[in-house]
Amino acid sequence: MNFRCYMPTEILFGPGTLSKLHEKTLPGRSALVVTTAGKSVKRLGYLDRLLGELSRGGAAAAVYDKVSPNPTRNNVMEGAALARQAGCDFLVALGGGSAIDAAKGIAVMAVNDGDCWDYVRDGSGKGLPLEHRPLPVIAVPTTAGTGSESDAGCVISYPERNEKVSFGTPWSFPVMSVVDPELMVSVPPTLTAYQGFDVWAHAVECYLSKAANPPSDINALDAIRRVVRSLPRAVEHGADLEARTDMAWASTQAGFCLTYSGLTAQHSLEHSLSGWYPGLTHGAGLILLSRAYLRRCARYDAYRQRLLDICQAMGVEHPNDPMALLPELEKLLKRCGVADITMSQFGIRRETLPKVAEMAYDRRFANERARMSVAEALEILEQSYA
Ligand SMILES: [Fe+2]
Repeated sequence: MNFRCYMPTEILFGPGTLSKLHEKTLPGRSALVVTTAGKSVKRLGYLDRLLGELSRGGAAAAVYDKVSPNPTRNNVMEGAALARQAGCDFLVALGGGSAIDAAKGIAVMAVNDGDCWDYVRDGSGKGLPLEHRPLPVIAVPTTAGTGSESDAGCVISYPERNEKVSFGTPWSFPVMSVVDPELMVSVPPTLTAYQGFDVWAHAVECYLSKAANPPSDINALDAIRRVVRSLPRAVEHGADLEARTDMAWASTQAGFCLTYSGLTAQHSLEHSLSGWYPGLTHGAGLILLSRAYLRRCARYDAYRQRLLDICQAMGVEHPNDPMALLPELEKLLKRCGVADITMSQFGIRRETLPKVAEMAYDRRFANERARMSVAEALEILEQSYA
């Protein structure tokens, strides 16, 4: 057994922790607060509270509030220009994964010249080495989903090229994450469900992955148990702080899994799909693919024991058939009200699927225990289409 385990982010976890931020030593004197273009962080007073905390902590702050639901290359370049102009020496992301990922990208481009696609290693990126280490980032997630609060991942889209790629660097871990479930109680039910299935998919894929290891496994199975126990409650009763707290920790745990282990082809397929169709929410894309993806895994013996372990984490007492996972997944989807979503509902056209499959092929495919060809990837997309 050989593995590397590295997670440098300080995590302040629990209801009310945002109010403790000013007590911490901040990583700089001048922050760029990065948040989404949506109005909720302002309407709910989260932005003012964060600015108050930064001010009490002795830091000046500028605000970049134009991040798209799928953060784009333009967001990164625009935010980086503002960070340079305002002389910022650290970033604070407030929002869901999109705000956190955008902040991680801005942190790179605020101190490195050129275009961010010069440094991207996937797609049409040039893969150049960074000249300077990114600025430090504090993450304040307002959703339980991406795990971006506890990993170095950063997903950025280039809509003009239909690309959605990973832009994380070894230095892209947040220096600190303030995971305060009180900031998550107002997420609407459907979004809560989509984001919760992102957590589920991170944990499931990292557990099935060839890169899995003991620290990832223990967090993955625990995150799956928490999602099954608490996601339907969080969807049904948004203000249920216990359920939100459980989901917030599941998201952070699944982020540890992303760091320790690695995702599989299901995420590559989803990124390719939502790269083509930016209106597709990441978690919804994962839901659409999940049944066919798991059916494909169940065809191979290499996944058998791991699928049985996941069945058990999902509540099956003595599983002996990996396919038992399918009805458990269906039950969870139904309880969260998202069992009936379809690709066509998101405007996805069947004739584009071959291209989506081809563009999905990236290094995550190497984490499949049974090698997946582009033809098999296309089969998953085809089977998921309705
Ligand atoms: Fe994800």
